[in-house]
Amino acid sequence: MLMRILGIESSCDETAVSIVENGIKIISTGLASSAEMHAKTGGVIPEQAAREQIKSIIPVLSEVLGDDKNGKNIDAIAVTVGPGLIGSLLVGVETAKTLSYIWDKPIIAVNHLVGHLYANWFKEVPEFPALGLVVSGGHTDLVLMKDHGKMEYIGSTRDDAAGEAFDKTARLLGLPYPGGPNLSKKAQEFLDKNHKPLTLFPRPLSDEDNFEWSFSGLKTAVTREVQNRKVTENDIPEIAAEVQEAIVNSLVSKCVKAILKYEPKSFLLAGGVAANSRLREKFESELTSKDIKVAFHVPEPKLCTDNATYIASCAYFNQSKRDLLEIEANPQLTIQDKV
Ligand code: KG4
Ligand code: ZN
Repeated sequence: MLMRILGIESSCDETAVSIVENGIKIISTGLASSAEMHAKTGGVIPEQAAREQIKSIIPVLSEVLGDDKNGKNIDAIAVTVGPGLIGSLLVGVETAKTLSYIWDKPIIAVNHLVGHLYANWFKEVPEFPALGLVVSGGHTDLVLMKDHGKMEYIGSTRDDAAGEAFDKTARLLGLPYPGGPNLSKKAQEFLDKNHKPLTLFPRPLSDEDNFEWSFSGLKTAVTREVQNRKVTENDIPEIAAEVQEAIVNSLVSKCVKAILKYEPKSFLLAGGVAANSRLREKFESELTSKDIKVAFHVPEPKLCTDNATYIASCAYFNQSKRDLLEIEANPQLTIQDKV
């Protein structure tokens, strides 16, 4: 039987709505971002993000529903309940509850971090067990998915998230918000012309026998480099390439160790940082060169960053329908928390 789920995502500065059929087919999708506004302030101001989302949610919803304003073709509503910014989360959660109430349709709560992994369900359905790495602006989490809803925590960052490391070092280099994609563009300018080994910055914990990361030292290392070298505009692409390589290498080397240890059938890359082309390439080349038998899945770049398609997909495969009065935004959720 066909099941169409309307997903709503508003955990950070995006306001997104999508309709997905049976968890794998995108029927309609829309997104409003306040990134341009945050570019002026150099980062997301939570109060401003939520105010923009309040204004955007109805236009985006209306665009995605098209002629079906009464949700006749929708079977359930899915919404991100956390983690994220409380004001932002509330916009999505209260909209979802209102629709559930007036349309009399079930509501499914989704953990945003688990949701990210489901961006991998739109091309080719991954086989379990699957090892998944979620690399976003606030999280770096490695999990083993034995099945839908059966997740084992493997490791995470001890301090900054991978996306945060991109964003903060980009800022130190004077690059505009959003830092990750802008740093990556600068790095590419260097990589297009140079092929030297990039080993300037440390890869903390790389020799330790665990699945943890630490990225906060990168800021200090970059600050020191900028001061010592008296950096000019010409040096920025090279430093950006070094930063990117340090983050990418740390992520790839630990994940390869985890793949060898847990021997999953699939490896899933997810979250905003998964849009990084160097990271995608490096995983692909490491797994191939080491002849590791695992199916590597990575979503197309626009599905890596926040959007509602994977929220609807995650809800389809994890259908814990709840009374709408029990659904609450929870900014502190971790990837291990059931919702
Ligand atoms: O998953 P996401 O869209 O939002 C959160 O849930 O946090 O991830 C946003 C993060 C930001 O830190 C952003 O700089 C980073 O993903 N990001 C990138 C790239 N695109 C987005 N980092 C490196 N390279 C990219 N191309
Ligand atoms: Zn996200």
